[in-house]
Amino acid sequence: MDCQQLSDLLPVGGEKVTMEFFQELVNILMGYIFKSNQRSTKVLDFHHPHLLTESLEGFSLDLPYQPEAPEQILVDCGDTLKYSVKTGRSCHPRFFNQLASGLDFSAGEWLTSTANTNMFTYEVAPVFILMEEVLLRKMQCIVGWSEDEGDDIFCPGGSVSNLYSVLVARCHFYPEVKIRGMSALPCRLALFTSEQGHFSVKKSAAVLGMGSDNVVVVKCNERPGSRPTNSRPTAERKSATAICAAGLGTTQKLKGWRARKMIPSELETAIMAARVKGLVSFYVNATAGTTVYGAIDPLSAIAEVYHHNTLWLHADSLVLSWNPHKMMGVPQQCSAFLFKKKGLLQECNQLCAEYLFQSNKHYNVSYDTGDKNIQCGRHVDVFKLWLMWKAKPEHSNVCFWYVPESLRNLLWSPERNRMLHQVAPKIKARMIGYQPVGSNVNFFCCVFSNPATKEDIDFLLEEIDRLGGDL
Ligand SMILES: Cc1ncc(COP(=O)(O)O)c(C=O)c1O
Repeated sequence: MDCQQLSDLLPVGGEKVTMEFFQELVNILMGYIFKSNQRSTKVLDFHHPHLLTESLEGFSLDLPYQPEAPEQILVDCGDTLKYSVKTGRSCHPRFFNQLASGLDFSAGEWLTSTANTNMFTYEVAPVFILMEEVLLRKMQCIVGWSEDEGDDIFCPGGSVSNLYSVLVARCHFYPEVKIRGMSALPCRLALFTSEQGHFSVKKSAAVLGMGSDNVVVVKCNERPGSRPTNSRPTAERKSATAICAAGLGTTQKLKGWRARKMIPSELETAIMAARVKGLVSFYVNATAGTTVYGAIDPLSAIAEVYHHNTLWLHADSLVLSWNPHKMMGVPQQCSAFLFKKKGLLQECNQLCAEYLFQSNKHYNVSYDTGDKNIQCGRHVDVFKLWLMWKAKPEHSNVCFWYVPESLRNLLWSPERNRMLHQVAPKIKARMIGYQPVGSNVNFFCCVFSNPATKEDIDFLLEEIDRLGGDL
């Protein structure tokens, strides 16, 4: 390679050396993708942190004082991928562990980082700002809101969407908090989520100064027949229930799956109990696709409770967090926050910094979205979803228990349960992560949005059975 150091690249250096360097990088990326796509490649070559920090096989994480040669930079790029998990994003057909998956829309991410711009003003991101507008209008339309009533923003993930939802709810009821702080509130506020709700609701309450203790956890229903009453041989692992979180793709729900959803009457009771304690109930978070079970809370029934009690509902008609980087398979990060009161987010966050948001620009400044969010600069998350919209991939979320052979003939008892709950952590150490839910410790939730075939799924189940054979 003619390039002696990275400063030889454009704009200082020439096109030839720039092309050579990036061509090499693309070769490394493509080599990684092709290798990841082979079933014989390990999903992860795991090393303990002390080994990775101690220059494993010459790969050093230390930062030198002198610039390294481009060849070394490329070697570092290769090593970084070598020790990374071959996720579904890099196309490994046997990565079932986390949500992000599928190679196709990485192209959108490549293009986005090449354009490397910022979503705070129209003048620096004209195409992406308009794309965001088009896409968010489509999403609003799917939700059922007209152009006049809906408003929206892309934000860094579901947790931040949840934070926004609490923020706008508080701004709606108590706008003076923006200036005067929490002392403007007449009393403590109570928030509600289900026991399967995501922890980011509590985190939002903590970040916004409301206190995580003031998030009331509402009971969920049980899955009919979820407690094993006697032995269930291999059928137990084969009777996995397929469900799907809310998203663009198909939503398939197996008949009879009515479990782990918020119980509306319990919400009503919790609101009464909060009132008795002197708290003002102002926000309820309902989930359309809970983290582990993928269950969808009964939104209409919950909406009735909130209308009754004048609350602000997240996920139904007022505020919605939609995360294409989960079940829709869009690369991290891609999350939209939609709400039904135009201008509220602007009102909530606007500070009119003059160096960015001059009102006398030569274009319509309502396209400068930077002042309606809690950040300053904002990453371009829209392009990969805009590309994906044309293809609409499918996915499913499969939850199952694994019962090792040694326990299959035991009748249900606390002792059997205790032994069963030791199984999943052992399987994780050998192969695949698990997602404990309450007392159901031995529980797996696999998201299939990677290119897995039926054989891959059989392989997964057989591996779990093989590795659990001696448990
Ligand atoms: C229901 C639900 N809400 C919010 C989140 C948080 O999303 P993010 O990781 O994008 O912040 C998750 C994450 O799994 C989730 O399952």
